[in-house]
Amino acid sequence: ATILVLHGPNLNLLGQREPDKYGATNLAEIDQALQIRARKAGHHLQHMQSNAEYELIERIHAARGEGVDFILINPAAFTHTSVALRDALLAVSIPFIEVHLSNIHRRETFRHHSYFSDIAEGVICGLGADGYQLALDATIRRLGTDDD
Ligand code: DQA
Repeated sequence: ATILVLHGPNLNLLGQREPDKYGATNLAEIDQALQIRARKAGHHLQHMQSNAEYELIERIHAARGEGVDFILINPAAFTHTSVALRDALLAVSIPFIEVHLSNIHRRETFRHHSYFSDIAEGVICGLGADGYQLALDATIRRLGTDDD
């Protein structure tokens, strides 16, 4: 199966950006670990980071035509603002897991609300980079191990 990992704004700075909140692991390391894990299970994994809302939306639209089976997404700040990104996920109706490095519920009130959680298969937050691996493990269990 094909899994798409999407990272929202400022996550390109992971490792340097507020490491007390977001950890020391950079995005390339996260993506590489996911890629290895997915490949071992016989799946294809693609990843993309963008600071632009429209690029993430267009990537989600393209995912439908490409036959992407599952999405892992950390919408970052768009979590709390983007009806457009939410609508894109609803439009393609590809199941997804929402991931956050930090525990958004332990932070400022404006981070407590997500435009994605009520339409996500599941939500993982507060476990740092491990959250992505856990999300991928859950995805792999759901997809089964196959080569398509
Ligand atoms: C984040 C949490 C968001 O509130 C924040 O805007 C981010 C990262 C996280 O992974 O913890 O950029 O999604």
